[in-house]
Amino acid sequence: MNNRALIESLRENRELPSQDYKTLLSTITQEERLYLAKMAREVTDRVYGKEIYLRGIIEFTNYCKNDCYYCGLRKSNDSVIRYRMTEKEILAACKMGYAIGMRTFVLQGGEDPTYDKGLLTHIIHTIKSHYPDCAITLSVGEKSKELYQEWFDAGADRFLLRHETATESHYEKLHPSCQTLANRMRCLRDLKDIGYQVGAGIMVGSPYQTIDTIVTDLQFMSDFSPEMIGIGPFIPHEKTPFKNEPIGSFDLTLTILSLVRLIHPHVLLPATTAMDTVRKNGRLEAIQAGCNVIMPNITPPRQRENYKLYNDMAELRSTHSIGIHEINDLLSSSGYQGVTSRGDYKKEIEV
Ligand code: 5AD
Repeated sequence: MNNRALIESLRENRELPSQDYKTLLSTITQEERLYLAKMAREVTDRVYGKEIYLRGIIEFTNYCKNDCYYCGLRKSNDSVIRYRMTEKEILAACKMGYAIGMRTFVLQGGEDPTYDKGLLTHIIHTIKSHYPDCAITLSVGEKSKELYQEWFDAGADRFLLRHETATESHYEKLHPSCQTLANRMRCLRDLKDIGYQVGAGIMVGSPYQTIDTIVTDLQFMSDFSPEMIGIGPFIPHEKTPFKNEPIGSFDLTLTILSLVRLIHPHVLLPATTAMDTVRKNGRLEAIQAGCNVIMPNITPPRQRENYKLYNDMAELRSTHSIGIHEINDLLSSSGYQGVTSRGDYKKEIEV
């Protein structure tokens, strides 16, 4: 089969033998990639129409007990000015987000145990009581099942935890030995058991990634079937061991996003900030390739400038209010519409 036939077969069957993913990933031409993107966008339109869900992201702590080799917030990076937002500051960010129409708040942070003993539970409770019409998404890393349950009971709806890679030997090259793929997977399973809408995902072009590891990731995402999948290019950070590694390929990221959409027509697929960092209006290209979520940053600028996962984050260049208006203008001038509903996963829609 040629690549176009493989793409059509994937659209039809939502899966391919691994050899066919390999062929596509390694031989797809620019023209075929556009064809793939068109198919992926058609499928997205059928499930979600032209609506793009907006989520307000609040980066509430940049303390992290982990030492991931790729991430600028790793504990060994002592040039970071560390901060923690108080409950009051987080609520103020929610208030501002709500006023501009956000109905999902994403609380994202490093792995910071300070919030584990009731503090985050209390914050979730308070946000939910002020804004019962909003969804709360957590993105705070690996915790015990009991703690995940406590946060769910307090009102959290969704949880983002990228698996980073489903290949153990690759995982070990990205993290120190105290962080294991087994525990990552345990967390993802616990989150799903509890009833969260769960997000997994990878960086494209992370060091030591190969076509084979990507195929394993596609298969994992197909089997585990997360409600959300976060994918963006790897971007080196100057204060990490991977500072001299090359940036991930923008086009390969688009290809993978479109494949994910065909594998998983209903998935909530964000056009990530990293896409805009490596290419101007990269998030729009990601939407044209099948993405249906954008996560504008509503962290106050004072804290935001200290939340750098990688070099030169796109959003550090704009203030939040310009950010959201720019995003809305860009979307509407391209035939899409930024919507501020809760934007839950739509599994009931036939495709
Ligand atoms: N480049 C791109 N993405 C990164 N992340 C962390 N560091 C980097 C980087 N240098 C991603 C990881 C993590 C998410 C919060 O951000 O995939 O799960």
